[in-house]
Amino acid sequence: MRITSIQLTDFRNYARAELRPCEGITVLYGNNAQGKTALLESVVLSCTGRSHRTPRDRELIRWGQEAGRVLIRAERRDGSHEVEMLLSQQKRKTVKVNGRALQRTGELMGHVSGVLFAPEDLRTVKDGPAERRRFIDMELSQIRPAYYYALQRYAHALLQRNKLLRDIPLNPTLRDTLPDWDAQLARHGAEIMRMRAAFVRDISEAAHENHLEISGGLEDLRVKYVPSLDAGEDDPARALAGALAVARETDIRRGTTTVGPHRDDLTLTLSGMDVRVYGSQGQQRTTALSLKLAELDIMRRELGEPPVLMLDDVMSELDPKRRRHLLRRLEGIQTIVTCTDLSDLAEAEIGAAWRIHGGEISAEGGDEA
Ligand SMILES: Nc1ncnc2c1ncn2[C@@H]1O[C@H](COP(=O)(O)OP(=O)(O)OP(=O)(O)O)[C@@H](O)[C@H]1O
Ligand SMILES: [Mg+2]
Repeated sequence: MRITSIQLTDFRNYARAELRPCEGITVLYGNNAQGKTALLESVVLSCTGRSHRTPRDRELIRWGQEAGRVLIRAERRDGSHEVEMLLSQQKRKTVKVNGRALQRTGELMGHVSGVLFAPEDLRTVKDGPAERRRFIDMELSQIRPAYYYALQRYAHALLQRNKLLRDIPLNPTLRDTLPDWDAQLARHGAEIMRMRAAFVRDISEAAHENHLEISGGLEDLRVKYVPSLDAGEDDPARALAGALAVARETDIRRGTTTVGPHRDDLTLTLSGMDVRVYGSQGQQRTTALSLKLAELDIMRRELGEPPVLMLDDVMSELDPKRRRHLLRRLEGIQTIVTCTDLSDLAEAEIGAAWRIHGGEISAEGGDEA
C-alpha cells in the first residue's frame, strides 16, 4: 500500500498543506513544535478513526476555526482509495471513503493502513496493564472489525453492570437483573479473550523475530497473554460466566466488576527477564519498537501488502547498530520518518526530505536556526 497524498485544512497548526510522500523513506524534519507529529497524526486518524494523542476530535481543529479536514489518497493492490475526515466544532466528525459517508468507524478498515511508532509507545512497555490492553485493542481493531465491535458491546455491558452493582445496595430487587448482564459480559468478553489470545501468539512470534534482528541476535523477546482468569481453551464464555458468578458478592460490595478482559495484561520478557521491571531504557525502547514492527508484519500478512510505517522521533533514541538494523527492515515499506536533526538519518536511503516549519511544508533545506 502506498499513500500518494496527504491534504490538510485547518488541522492542528496547518492552515492548508499537502504532502506527497515518496515510495521509500520520506523524512519530515524541523524544530520542535512545528507540526511533524501533527502530520503523522492526520494519517493515524485516517487509519483508525482516532488520533493517537487525544480522544477529542475538536482538539485537532486549528485554533479559532469551525472545521478541519484531512484527505488522504492511497494506492493499494485493488486500486485507489480516498479517505476524508471532516472535523467540526459542533458535531461528530464525518468520515468518507471514496466520497461516501460511513455509518460505522469499523468500515474504515482496509482503506488507509498504517503503523505509527512514537515515543509514547514506550508506555506499552513501562506503564500499567491498561496501556498494554490499549496496545492490543488499537492494533487488533485495525485488522479485525469484529474485535472492535465486540469491545464496544463489552464496554457497554460492563458500564451497565457496574452501575447496577452500585444500585443494588439501595434497591436489592435489582439483583435479579444481574444474570442478564453477566451473560452478555461472558459472551462478548469470551470473544475478546479468544481473539486476544490468538493475536498475542502471533505478536509474540513476530516480535521475537524483529527483536532478534534489531538487537543483532542478542535478545530473546517473548510476549505472553495474561488473562484476568484462567479460561482454558475450550469454553471461555462458560469460564467467564462462572468467574462472574463467583465474584458476584465481592463485586456488589466493591461496586465494580473485578473479573473479565478489562483486567487482562501482557508480560514482556527478554531471555526470561521482565523488561518492564529490569530492562534498560534502550531495551524497553527496542521492545516497544519490536512490538510495532510485529504489528506491521501481521498487518502485511492480513492485508496482503505492507501498510505505511510512521516513525516519530525514534532514530535519535537508538544506538547506531540498532538504527542500522531498523533501517534494513524498512525495505519495500513506505515509511514516513520525523526528526529534528537530519544527521540521525545519515545512513538511510532517503527518498525525499521536507522541512516542516510553523505548519508549512517546504522542499528547501533552509537554516535550522
Ligand atoms: N488545534 C491546534 N491548532 C493550532 N495549533 C495547534 C493545535 N494543536 C496543537 N497545535 C500546535 O501545533 C504545533 C505542532 O505540534 P507537533 O506536535 O506536530 O510538533 P512537532 O513538530 O512534532 O514537535 P516536536 O519535535 O516537539 O515533537 C505545536 O506548536 C502545537 O502547540
Ligand atoms: Mg513531535
